[in-house]
Amino acid sequence: MRDRRCDGVKEQKGVTLWLTGLSGAGKTTIACILEQKLKERGLRVERLDGDVVRTHLTKDLGFSKEDRCEHIERVTYVAELLTRHGVIVLASFISPYRSMRAYSRKRISSFVEVYVHCPLEECIRRDVKGLYEKAMKGGIPCFTGINDPYEAPENPDLTVNTQEETPEESAERVLRHLECEGWVS
Ligand code: PPS
Ligand code: MG
Repeated sequence: MRDRRCDGVKEQKGVTLWLTGLSGAGKTTIACILEQKLKERGLRVERLDGDVVRTHLTKDLGFSKEDRCEHIERVTYVAELLTRHGVIVLASFISPYRSMRAYSRKRISSFVEVYVHCPLEECIRRDVKGLYEKAMKGGIPCFTGINDPYEAPENPDLTVNTQEETPEESAERVLRHLECEGWVS
């Protein structure tokens, strides 16, 4: 397969890597490591992250089921465009509902679902942002895992377990998966 066009731009397949998991499971950390590794290979990468997208594209939305669905619909729209234009999209969103993730998979032709698995007790122990403590004291009305659902993937393309492996190890496993499936070389 050619990997250079005549204008010198590297040919690459677009794909959306969809990282789903609880708050604090490690989605953003793994996506950042992957972003760096893929960029080092000269690949075009864009990262879409819940905390960031919610300050721009979906800043009008909260965390009700309806708002989360609207949020994922808008993000999916962007991810699909980027994917179609040959970008590797690293999408890190809790995306707690299976139906939402199925929607994204259906819309985006090249889609890899990665379950960033970490037991709730471990996420509570980490509590990097102090959100679990606040939620457990009743300070956050719909906090995923505490008083709002998280539907774990039943058939993800890959699962990484961040209680048992370091973020570097998880990122490496994702990279190997992308290589094995022919998404990156
Ligand atoms: S979702 O469910 O896909 O719409 O969520 P997402 O866009 O990924 O945003 C998750 C980040 O928002 C912060 N946060 C909350 N998360 C879950 N539930 C509630 N109620 C909530 N309120 C704020 C939190 O920082 C999440 O970031 P991560 O990286 O997942 O910890
Ligand atoms: Mg995050």
